[in-house]
Amino acid sequence: QCDLQGLWKNELGSNMTLLALNTAGIFLGSYHTSVAATNKKILVSPLQGAQQHPSTKGHTTFGFTVQWQFSDSITAFVGQCFVDHRGKETLETTWLLQEEVPSHRDTWRATRVGTSIFTRIK
Ligand code: BTN
Repeated sequence: QCDLQGLWKNELGSNMTLLALNTAGIFLGSYHTSVAATNKKILVSPLQGAQQHPSTKGHTTFGFTVQWQFSDSITAFVGQCFVDHRGKETLETTWLLQEEVPSHRDTWRATRVGTSIFTRIK
């Protein structure tokens, strides 16, 4: 079984801390991104998420949003936790980064999408 709680790093060098789940599967944490779409000084930003109740297969699904403290954007991550035969845990995620644009005519450029794999550092 995969435990989301802990310190995780992705392929970009971003770090996040996920705190313990409550009984409803809701969790909080913080995200320190290594990159940004703006030139603003990066600040550690809060995240809020939910984990599905663990299935019998163990590859529990989860999602969280990061409310950036240095930009008007927000990112939503969804993913699954996997454990390999050596016990190494990875969080395999897909994200959407929504940027604030001045008008609905600009929505074509408002959303970025990507994938990210997190490995446990603590
Ligand atoms: C912004 O640029 O407005 C906020 C920071 C966005 C960082 C993105 S979220 C998806 C990707 N994965 C990361 O760890 N950082 C970038």
